[in-house]
Amino acid sequence: MSPSSTSLIRKGISLKPFNSFGIEAKTAFWAELTEESDLFRLQETDTFQKLQRQILGGGSNILITRDYPGLMLKIRIPGITVISEDDREVVLSIGAGVEWDELVRFTTQRGWGGLENLSMIPGETGAAPIQNIGAYGVELESVFISLDAVQLETGEKTTFDREMCRFGYRDSIFKRSHKGKYLITNVTLRLSKQPRLRLDYGNLKAVLDSEGVRNPDISDVSRAVRKIRSSKLPDPAVTGNAGSFFKNPVITSDQFRKLSELHSAIPSYPAGDMVKIPAAWLIDQCGFKGKRVGDAGVHEHHALILVNHGNASGADILALADDIRSEVAGRFGVALEPEVNIL
Ligand code: EPU
Repeated sequence: MSPSSTSLIRKGISLKPFNSFGIEAKTAFWAELTEESDLFRLQETDTFQKLQRQILGGGSNILITRDYPGLMLKIRIPGITVISEDDREVVLSIGAGVEWDELVRFTTQRGWGGLENLSMIPGETGAAPIQNIGAYGVELESVFISLDAVQLETGEKTTFDREMCRFGYRDSIFKRSHKGKYLITNVTLRLSKQPRLRLDYGNLKAVLDSEGVRNPDISDVSRAVRKIRSSKLPDPAVTGNAGSFFKNPVITSDQFRKLSELHSAIPSYPAGDMVKIPAAWLIDQCGFKGKRVGDAGVHEHHALILVNHGNASGADILALADDIRSEVAGRFGVALEPEVNIL
């Protein structure tokens, strides 16, 4: 083991500053990676070879319920590079550690379209493909070209194109068969200089109209999305949270017909030949919005966001989530799946 590789590893680090729920927990070992070669150096160490490992991006989509006994790998790979550019489009290569919203600002300021609806999503670029982040009618996959990843066990490098990633709603191969097996180092995206705006989702168009914006550009859309998000989603710097805690359930149209006979006000969105229903509505109907159990709570403005009012443990938040799941299952017969990763 070389001295340089051991010096990357630190012991007994508090994870509180590194998870947006602001949960206090410790990791036995910790290493920060600023370039791909750091991983190769780490792979030579006993700590890496003998212990379990967990990759941490922005920590904005994780609920930590215990101290972690292994090695946590914090990704800090920087850089936004233009790979190619013409009159119509620009291809960017982005380091996995680049803050997602820093990338969104970088591109929207230049009038490059594709990420404006994804403004203000917390987290890092390397984590974005894992759950195919989405908001206001746009998902990452619509701008995605490829990502570079290194297999943790073997060190083998692979470039995954869009098809290989098997994107779905808040889903990819990295949440399934490849879960925890690869470290994503770099993401390549294609943005448009002649963007087609997506304004059809929710109240995006209404917000622009209310501002008197008739012919919105990329910056207008980004600003409107920021306005909507700030009005209903809590700022993790103030109140710990990880965005939507559950996925919106997707059910068959037959199931939906039966549900809507009983609950005529139930909202829905088409999802291929299935129907997506807002988990927030189901949770809200069960009376959880604004509810608080100790320091674990449900946000007062949005029923899908679980919050840490101060000193909740991961187990406290999880207990509340379990309560919500069983109430929703009992009342609507619908199973809620967590969207956040539970450690
Ligand atoms: N609703 C309620 N009560 C509430 C909040 C919402 O009944 O307290 C109902 C309303 O009918 C509303 C519907 O739920 O129209 C949907 O709410 P919203 O538009 O806020 O969107 P969402 O389905 O809850 C999804 C994403 C968000 C994303 C927004 C906007 C998921 C799991 N969540 O939320 O993503 O920002 O749409 O596109 O798909 C995240 O993934 O962390 C996240 C915040």
